[in-house]
Amino acid sequence: MEIVVIGLGYVGLVNAVVLAGYHHKVTGYDLNVSKIARLKQGEAVLSEPGLQELLNKNKENLIFTDSAETAIKDKEVAFVAVDTPENPDGSANLVHFYAALHQIAKFATRPMSVIIRSTVPVGTNRLAAAYLKEESPLAFNVISQPEFLSQGRAVKDMKKPYRIILGVAEGETKKTVKALYAFYTKKHVPVLYTSPESAELAKYASNNFLALKISYINEMARLAEKVGADIDEVATGMGLDPRIGKAFFKAGIGYGGSCFPKDTKALNWLADKKHTPSETLKATIKVNQEQPKLFVDKINQRFHGVLTGKKIAVLGLAFKGNTTDVRNSPAYPIIERLLSYGAEVVAYDKSAIEEFKKNIDANEHLTYSNQLLSAMKGVQAVVIANDAKEIKTLKPSDFIDAMDKPIVYDGRNLYKPLAMAKIEYHSVGRPSSR
Ligand code: UDX
Repeated sequence: MEIVVIGLGYVGLVNAVVLAGYHHKVTGYDLNVSKIARLKQGEAVLSEPGLQELLNKNKENLIFTDSAETAIKDKEVAFVAVDTPENPDGSANLVHFYAALHQIAKFATRPMSVIIRSTVPVGTNRLAAAYLKEESPLAFNVISQPEFLSQGRAVKDMKKPYRIILGVAEGETKKTVKALYAFYTKKHVPVLYTSPESAELAKYASNNFLALKISYINEMARLAEKVGADIDEVATGMGLDPRIGKAFFKAGIGYGGSCFPKDTKALNWLADKKHTPSETLKATIKVNQEQPKLFVDKINQRFHGVLTGKKIAVLGLAFKGNTTDVRNSPAYPIIERLLSYGAEVVAYDKSAIEEFKKNIDANEHLTYSNQLLSAMKGVQAVVIANDAKEIKTLKPSDFIDAMDKPIVYDGRNLYKPLAMAKIEYHSVGRPSSR
């Protein structure tokens, strides 16, 4: 099929590259001229495992352009995968989304299926269908297909998702998506047809449920610290019950990224607007906002409320390991609070420093390093903020070599407390070694 993908972020680009491997002819369109130039040179742009290899392999079926007209004309299917960022009140901003629809209406030359992959408020797919009807004489078949991929495993998630949910309104055809996704049926991926509203809500409800699990385990971790339990043992014990499940049960300094913080706020906004406020969502958000602050307060208490002049290394600036994405990274509140207590912070990340700096004010007490061992040299404490591979594999001897008196605050529970018995080691919801 002849496909255009509008918006080449994580969702759009991975979509385009994967679909091109299933005999579809895919044109990727983005406003960002330099991104398109790099893609045209064959550069995958995003550091997602397997993406560069797949781009090389499928290049015969891929075209990239920054011209909306070239991208859209003559296509049978359009994917809309533009970002829907957060408005100040928590609602989703649909400016890019409607700009994409406008371009489809303007440049389409034949009836098209429009598959919406952007995360949009419940009800938007129907509004999008009405908008296209109003703007163009052509017939559009609008389908909601929420995206569930995780960064760091986006190609894998796109090739074989746990499920695909297709929101199709009454009177719309399923024929195009059935042909488009014949490969999923062959791979036995469950395909669920729903109404557009159910598909839209399933996306938000899924992300919010995962966020809820994280906040729940973080709240239990607070209690575990008070009663001498080990939250990892608690989570393992709970997760062995398949009704509960072990995924998204890792205690830490809270969730970040481009989805959970934004989607929890968007659904909270919607629930309030519909006069059915969600108490679990409000609690999820609150616990997550408190979690990094409480963690820094523990460090402050350890130093008897005197962090002024103490040098502290914060390891891992991206919102999770092995990505350069810093959006809503817990490293921001961690560093901001440490600075507010007067600490001298050395912030380490292998490759996310430049991105990180864009969202935090320059401060004479904040320096950066992309060298892990030298970032820790001579500091009074190390704070672990993400689970990047090189951080995960640090050994007690690395801390002993770098610091006079090693003190480690592990915000991701990366190491077994027993393995760290030789140093002063604190983590989340587990007994400290001291
Ligand atoms: C998430 C969802 O997993 C994905 O389905 C959705 O489409 C987009 O949002 P992503 O943001 O890439 O994906 O990251 P994910 O791996 O889910 O982690 C999100 C955040 O939660 C990270 O900050 C991570 O460190 C944190 N997390 C995750 C925990 O604190 N504990 C856990 O057990 C799992």
